[in-house]
Amino acid sequence: MYQHGCLVRSVELSSEVHEPHVCYFRKTRLIASLAIEGEVIMAKEMIVVEGGTPLIGEVKVSGAKNSALKLIAASILGGGESVIHNVPLISDITIMSKVLETLGARVSRDGHTLVIDTASVDTWETPYELVSKMRASISVLGPLVARFGEARVAMPGGCNLGARKIDMHMVGMEALGVHFETDHGYIKATTPNGLHGAYIALDFPSVGATENTMMCAVTAEGETVIENAAREPEIEDLADMLNAMGARVSGAGSPTIVVEGVPLSSLHPCEHMTVGDRIEAGTFLVGGAMMGGPVTVRGIEPGFLRMALMKLHAMGCEIDLGDDYITVFRTAALRGIDIQTLPHPGFPTDLQAQFMLLAAVAQGNSVITENVFENRFMFADEIGRMGAQVTIEDHHAFVEGVSSLQGTDVKATDLRCGAALVLAGIFAEGVTRVHKIHHIDRGYEDYVGKLSSLGAKLHREADEDIDW
Ligand code: EPZ
Repeated sequence: MYQHGCLVRSVELSSEVHEPHVCYFRKTRLIASLAIEGEVIMAKEMIVVEGGTPLIGEVKVSGAKNSALKLIAASILGGGESVIHNVPLISDITIMSKVLETLGARVSRDGHTLVIDTASVDTWETPYELVSKMRASISVLGPLVARFGEARVAMPGGCNLGARKIDMHMVGMEALGVHFETDHGYIKATTPNGLHGAYIALDFPSVGATENTMMCAVTAEGETVIENAAREPEIEDLADMLNAMGARVSGAGSPTIVVEGVPLSSLHPCEHMTVGDRIEAGTFLVGGAMMGGPVTVRGIEPGFLRMALMKLHAMGCEIDLGDDYITVFRTAALRGIDIQTLPHPGFPTDLQAQFMLLAAVAQGNSVITENVFENRFMFADEIGRMGAQVTIEDHHAFVEGVSSLQGTDVKATDLRCGAALVLAGIFAEGVTRVHKIHHIDRGYEDYVGKLSSLGAKLHREADEDIDW
């Protein structure tokens, strides 16, 4: 099949191929970012950015990646056709949809709406090749155990951010009666005596551990209390969907979540609207703060970003809020800032790279402390190639503001670093080429298109065979 000036591998494309991005034929190798039958291949592309353009205007944020992925997993409990709206068009959603399909579910997409029929889910085992691509697929563990009483899920690997263990997931679910054993790189979960309510206190308010434990507790007999639970807005969104399916979850968004177990037979499919993506919104607001704006992000609950907005204001920005929008603009010079990343409602680690960029071009010095992940300063190395002055000591980054950055070749190491590097290219003098942008495609829908709508001059193009 030949289209858009390139040869698409002659394989049977799954009828649900949803977002066939551009694909390239290079020499004998086909490089495509198509979700094709059983396989998700990332494009080898780069984003080329011309520096010095303003960022002015309004963008609509997409649905939250870190909610939608778990809502898809939760649909396993509905045992029928659930409909999830405002789902972002990003590669992580494609992978999670493939995970559900390997379990036997039928997934179809209509724009930003996913229709997932899990009546036909007939296996509780997920394949390594998909789980290894995306850690979040571990989110099927809780619902599979709650529905089938067992699961066999490939152990997620580490990533650039650190070990990304799941010990807290397992401790929470063991308290509910789940027995785990590791089996050739897989985690095998069984419930020899069924699931029962329990009092659980998490060592750390882990988002994933809270989600898996909460979903597993939905059909556990009796009451479950999860203390020191994660409080992220995405946890509340997941609890809302679980309750719409007939579960009885209360306290989501607070440190104490209570789940009254219900029989599996009382659960049913539902229709749900995904909340707006607070991290995508924060990313665009940082762009507006950096260039002066005004930039408005629409489709977001401002309360999701309270701490980040406080920091923008402290750095010299003006903020205007509405029910579903935030506007940022700046007339004074950016001032340095001190930031500590913490679980919500603390400063979000997923905005750390973006704010390091702001600090790098602010007047004065800043200290950024990363408390959530053990290795999340890779952005510092890349922004340093553009002239930023950042010194890392343990989990602190000491930033000395500079007045300009120089465009050059840089590489994304994770999706937030990649998104911040593109913003850096807009600020920099000259041209910046951001490589390994498949990281960005994991969590930002049409990032180039949205930034272009704000006045940025950037485009995607095939990346040379440089092993960045
Ligand atoms: C979620 O990851 C998000 N991902 C992350 O977003 C986000 O940074 C993180 O929460 C914190 O807010 C998704 O929701 C898909 P954690 P998660 O469990 O659930 C350690 C992005 O950029 N830990 O709260 O994996 C863990 O290693 C991504 O969108 C254990 O030690 O985060 C980490 O250091 C990046 N044992 C810390 O806790 C466990 O059992 C926080 O992890 C679980 C976690």
